[in-house]
Amino acid sequence: MRESNLLTDFIRGKVILITGASSGIGEATARLLAESGAKVVLGARRKCKLKKIVTDINRTGGLATCRELDVTKRSDNEAIVDLAIDAFGQLDAVLLNAGIMPRSPISALEVDNWDRMVDVNIKGLMYGIAAAMPRFVEQRSGHVLAVSSVAGQKSYAGAAVYGGTKWFVRNFMEVLRMESVAEGTNIKTTTLYPAAVRTELISLIDDKQTADEMRNFYDRFAVSPARIAETVAYALSLPFDTTINEITVGPTKQPW
Ligand SMILES: NC(=O)c1ccc[n+]([C@@H]2O[C@H](COP(=O)([O-])OP(=O)(O)OC[C@H]3O[C@@H](n4cnc5c(N)ncnc54)[C@H](OP(=O)(O)O)[C@@H]3O)[C@@H](O)[C@H]2O)c1
Repeated sequence: MRESNLLTDFIRGKVILITGASSGIGEATARLLAESGAKVVLGARRKCKLKKIVTDINRTGGLATCRELDVTKRSDNEAIVDLAIDAFGQLDAVLLNAGIMPRSPISALEVDNWDRMVDVNIKGLMYGIAAAMPRFVEQRSGHVLAVSSVAGQKSYAGAAVYGGTKWFVRNFMEVLRMESVAEGTNIKTTTLYPAAVRTELISLIDDKQTADEMRNFYDRFAVSPARIAETVAYALSLPFDTTINEITVGPTKQPW
């Protein structure tokens, strides 16, 4: 467990739900937040991976629980919010991180992959917010953090659909912030725009040329998911009266 300091003071005791927690950014963030005293609720489809992470956290003095979650199913999103309340009595923040990136040029016509990206990256985000909102509105507080991408800020060849799903995240989160201020519900929003991070994300790319290019690129530039976890922890550590809306974060040496 980390010693108390400015960063951990506002994280300690918070109940934080993380989607896509079975690997990469979600796993790294779950481990760091638990180390910082948060109670973490982990969701993803690969339950065996989640169980191992929960066991590690609980064995080292942290508090974690998990549930199988397919973010494309509304009922799964509702059930994991219920789990957070049942297990830890409250819900303070959600990190909507689950995502897939089977990139390819439009001309490859991987229409099934387009559908999957819309389902996971867009609908998964909406369903996650819909599940947490009633609780956040009732308690007039809450923090929604969502993982977009630098592909949600700029256009990249090969990322027409992936980028589109991540532009969606930006719009939805900014409207959520504006509306929650207008409605007086005080819901904080933080959208993260990572560049290359060393995770399993590129393993789902079917288009061979795209996969080779991305692998070479990631081998050269990608940073550890722990960097993104630290950024999430920073956003969560700010006092109640301050929110950090957007963070772009990635390798110092990445040229685009
Ligand atoms: N790595 C990068 O360079 C990078 C850059 C910018 C943005 N991002 C974004 O960062 C987020 C996390 O990705 P990552 O890089 O950490 O890759 P990752 O290691 O592949 O993690 C993706 C996570 O999403 C989960 N997931 C996928 N489909 C899901 C579904 N239907 N329901 C629930 N969970 C699902 C996966 O778990 P299961 O397979 O067990 O369900 C996994 O835990 C994604 O939104 C990604 O777009 C990553």
